Amino acid sequence: MINVETKYAGLTLRNPIIIGSSGLTNKAEHNKRLEEAGAGAIVLKSLFEEQIELQSDSLMQNSDSPEAADYIYSYVKTNQINQYLELIEKSKEVCTIPIIASINCYKSDAWIEFARQIEAAGADALELNVFFLETDLTADADSVEERYIKLIRRVKETVSIPVMIKTSKMQGNIPALAQTLTVNGADGLVLFNRFYQPDIDIFKQEVTSSNIFSNPADLSDTLRWTAILSGKIPGISIATSTGVHDWESVIKCLLAGADAVQICSAVYQQGQEIISQMLTRLEEWMSQQNYQNISEFKGKLNYANIPNPTLYERSQFMKYYSKRE
Ligand SMILES: Cc1cc2nc3c(=O)[nH]c(=O)nc-3n(C[C@H](O)[C@H](O)[C@H](O)COP(=O)(O)O)c2cc1C
Repeated sequence: MINVETKYAGLTLRNPIIIGSSGLTNKAEHNKRLEEAGAGAIVLKSLFEEQIELQSDSLMQNSDSPEAADYIYSYVKTNQINQYLELIEKSKEVCTIPIIASINCYKSDAWIEFARQIEAAGADALELNVFFLETDLTADADSVEERYIKLIRRVKETVSIPVMIKTSKMQGNIPALAQTLTVNGADGLVLFNRFYQPDIDIFKQEVTSSNIFSNPADLSDTLRWTAILSGKIPGISIATSTGVHDWESVIKCLLAGADAVQICSAVYQQGQEIISQMLTRLEEWMSQQNYQNISEFKGKLNYANIPNPTLYERSQFMKYYSKRE
């Protein structure tokens, strides 16, 4: 009997497919349908602190009373947070799979306030969607790491549910950061978040946005870092996110060492049927390979378990290019 149960960041999932934070997961009824379609867990759409501020700013522009500013900000904030807490409560009412809340804030005090309320609303875990893109020429690399450390420590002091950090691949030393986060209490790491992708319209000569969705070629970086981190950092728990569009990619992520696999663009583009397709083919593959449980092959091809771990490192590109005519 094939068993696809997996443990991720202290949660037990009936299978490794998690629906990534997005508009797909912003309503309890959507989440119920995703559970029925086979999902192992759901990460709710993020609560964005920045969005709360933008909405208050636009309301304030329409107000001729500057004294109203504080009131408007606090009204918008309370309203948005309450809606989010309601999303958690309703999703928990209609789903049996774990519901992971997600917050995206950029001031560390706000993270703490949200985290406490989210736990009280019944979320099974909390994913912190963190993206500090350092562009200050005078900032040193340690300052970004210190912000992450401060954040995870404070959130872990505040809540007792598992806390995952969804991080960016635009970091100086990803393994060092991952190790620091794990040592400082992160229960899981989500590799990676994906934000606004800038592009340039050459005819209008304007900066535009492109590629809201990932594509299968994005998987390569996800695999590389999953394999390296899972091979180097004992006890780390990883969910991949970015570039998983088919069942083969799910298996690749598990072989690289992921405990779970988040999907988002694939569901937008192929519909929620992709979830059961991925699970059916995963089970078929496990049966062909004589695996009963995911633990029998998880991490089999990570950095620590292959004879030539440099295959995950950059020097191999040079060999490839030097052979290519
Ligand atoms: C329309 C859309 C909305 C998203 N909203 C969020 C969000 O609120 N919070 C978040 O952490 N990630 C958000 N993401 C990023 C996804 O969770 C995911 O990390 C990213 O799309 C890469 O995974 P994929 O290759 O499976 O799409 C969003 C992605 C899309 C396409």
